[in-house]
Amino acid sequence: MNSHNNRDSGLKQPPKTMHHIVALRDELRKFREDKRIALVPTMGNLHDGHVSLVEIAKKHADIVVVSIFVNPTQFGEGEDFDSYPRTLEADVSRLTLAGADIVFAPSVEEIYPNSPSEISTSIDLGTMTKHLCGKSRPGHFDGVGLVVSKLFNIVQPDVAVFGKKDYQQLALIRQLTEDLSYPIEIIRAPIVRTEDGLALSSRNQYLTESERQLAPKLHQIIYDLSKKIERGEHIVIGFEELLNKSCQRINAAGFEVDYLQIMTQKLGPATKADKELVILVAAWLGKARLLDNQEVIVDI
Ligand code: PAF
Repeated sequence: MNSHNNRDSGLKQPPKTMHHIVALRDELRKFREDKRIALVPTMGNLHDGHVSLVEIAKKHADIVVVSIFVNPTQFGEGEDFDSYPRTLEADVSRLTLAGADIVFAPSVEEIYPNSPSEISTSIDLGTMTKHLCGKSRPGHFDGVGLVVSKLFNIVQPDVAVFGKKDYQQLALIRQLTEDLSYPIEIIRAPIVRTEDGLALSSRNQYLTESERQLAPKLHQIIYDLSKKIERGEHIVIGFEELLNKSCQRINAAGFEVDYLQIMTQKLGPATKADKELVILVAAWLGKARLLDNQEVIVDI
């Protein structure tokens, strides 16, 4: 499957790192006729969660392109765009081991030649962008939608892989793909966790040592909540009371809840009749805003 890596000798060649759209398109043209191309969009500072996206992409395609681009249009004022870790060399080493074929690492000017603030086309993904993370980070998903559309147009992949950790982002990208008729299969990759249950995220490195010890508690609490919903407790006492109790537990543990919600897995409002639900949480712990979620199937 993978053309650049020599499996027989066990030696892995580094992926081809490309910075320019024209050169990337020329390179990909060679493969289009008889190979499937996958895109794994990232902002770099890669961890095992990203590696798992590449591994999944390799199962669905012959050529795996990983984009590394810290996208300015998805960061709000006062957010961490300037300090977001840029670690291209280490990322390429990880991607060599993961077996990626091409790394696309463009500059801001390459993606936004007229400066990000002057771009006049916008992607409006509707009300879905206004709740959950979209409420706390106004404009964030407009920027994600824009850059993902650009990456889809630049790479023109057959498949693209996104992690379920960013559940709302994934739902919006599926919507965008359908609304704009991109001929791209969107693969939903499971969350990768540390042994003690913390969802992997580049922003975990903002945690101090003691915060890092505490951080897995966030998932523990929503997991406990998922078990209550599985048993049908929401049918008896309602979602609101369950949410209030869990919210109190999270705050009492030392986090500051941004939101905690139960929704359908398509991110619509949940009713007691729904069977496929998801619990979504965002909470601050020191400088880190932790995101997590837990899918629940109500089986009663
Ligand atoms: O999830 C991310 O890392 C980013 O939001 C994405 C999808 C690469 C767009 O910049």
